[in-house]
Amino acid sequence: MKRMNETILVTGGAGFIGSNFILGWMRAGASSPTSAGVNGAAAVVNGAVAVVNLDLLTYAGNAANLAALEGDERYTFVRGDICDAELVGSLLRKYEPKTIVHFAAESHVDRSIVSPEGFVRTNVMGTFTLLEQARVYWSGLGDEDRAAFRFLHVSTDEVYGTLGPDDPAFSEETAYAPNSPYAASKAGSDHLARAYFHTFKLPVVTTNCSNNYGPFQFPEKLIPLMILNALEGKPLPVYGDGKNVRDWLFVEDHCAAIRAVLEKGRPGETYNIGGNSERANIDVVTAICDIVDEMRPRAGAAPRRGLITYVQDRPGHDRRYAIDARKIANELGWKPAEAFESGLRKTVRWYLENGDWVESVRTGAYRDWIAKNYAERAQL
Ligand code: NAD
Ligand code: DAU
Repeated sequence: MKRMNETILVTGGAGFIGSNFILGWMRAGASSPTSAGVNGAAAVVNGAVAVVNLDLLTYAGNAANLAALEGDERYTFVRGDICDAELVGSLLRKYEPKTIVHFAAESHVDRSIVSPEGFVRTNVMGTFTLLEQARVYWSGLGDEDRAAFRFLHVSTDEVYGTLGPDDPAFSEETAYAPNSPYAASKAGSDHLARAYFHTFKLPVVTTNCSNNYGPFQFPEKLIPLMILNALEGKPLPVYGDGKNVRDWLFVEDHCAAIRAVLEKGRPGETYNIGGNSERANIDVVTAICDIVDEMRPRAGAAPRRGLITYVQDRPGHDRRYAIDARKIANELGWKPAEAFESGLRKTVRWYLENGDWVESVRTGAYRDWIAKNYAERAQL
């Protein structure tokens, strides 16, 4: 009979949320009652559970996000593809993890409109490959280990589609109605996760979270793009009328919610995670302008709000997202700790203080993407 140990296998841990999750996990010292890995791998070192990070390092992944863990015995990085069944199977056999936290995905809606195929490959086939390899590994465990094992599938509120201004927020009962290729590929992965619990009893838990922001977010997404453009005096391209609404959550709150789900979440359940911070895009962008003006004043220059430029909308652009997070609050006791205004200030400060990181991710491929996405967007 195979045994498992306390190790967690994280996919996509070099991306925005994954790297914040691993750093937070190590900071929290995520302690464990057991001590050693059965195969000799370091499963628990100094009371903290080891992490194996499987990441392909696509344009969105950056191993340097985890530079703080260099030399840390608890951390292992593996560059590889979640679609590679042989690799995934061998990692499960080698590290015998108790938990898989699955972040790896293609995550940018605009890119899914330009080139959807990679989204279906990674988000649907990649999740299928992980679930299937996890099922094979988990089937070989003893009863106690099988009961303790968790596969946490990290998903998005975009699977629920769009809301009108007075609609109730998305709950776990809201019907799926994905509108972009990204959202459809995530919905497909959620359905596979659900089916693996229902059919095989693999202990899967799914989380559906709203828009995250914070350190290490790739500057193709609204908040970091606007911070950097504002800093550099470039136009701030707001899609459509700027009144689309998102429910913003500071990334460390999302990571804390995932830890709560790992600790207390029930297999087969889904948990919606949100920030109770609905904001129209234009309000987010003006707030960023004001914070950058305050932190990096430009003598004699006009306020940065003047850089706001309305541009042609994203096709199929969802109007409003909002999360009803009562289930996770009531069942698991999780609530967001950070207010949007203070989280946004922390985020702006982080980008201002981490110019080297910014330069390292703004590669030629990044510049090509920015040119492609914005060049053909007519100014409104
Ligand atoms: P991201 O794009 O910043 O990072 C994705 C990571 O996955 C990168 O490190 C990339 O290298 C890796 N990756 C991509 N394809 C891979 C593959 N085939 N094999 C292995 N690794 C691969 O994404 P993010 O914003 O950190 O999102 C993480 C997860 O959270 C995603 O599943 C996303 O759908 C979900 N999510 C994101 C948000 C958000 O606001 N960013 C909100 C809710 C849910
Ligand atoms: O809701 C959760 C989702 O949030 C995650 O599942 C996705 O991975 C994540 O990328 C995010 O999706 P959005 O499409 O909401 O995020 P984005 O930052 O791309 O855009 C936020 C809003 O800002 C959206 O209404 C589009 C708008 N926008 C975006 C960009 C990049 C602009 O107005 N201008 C821009 O240049």
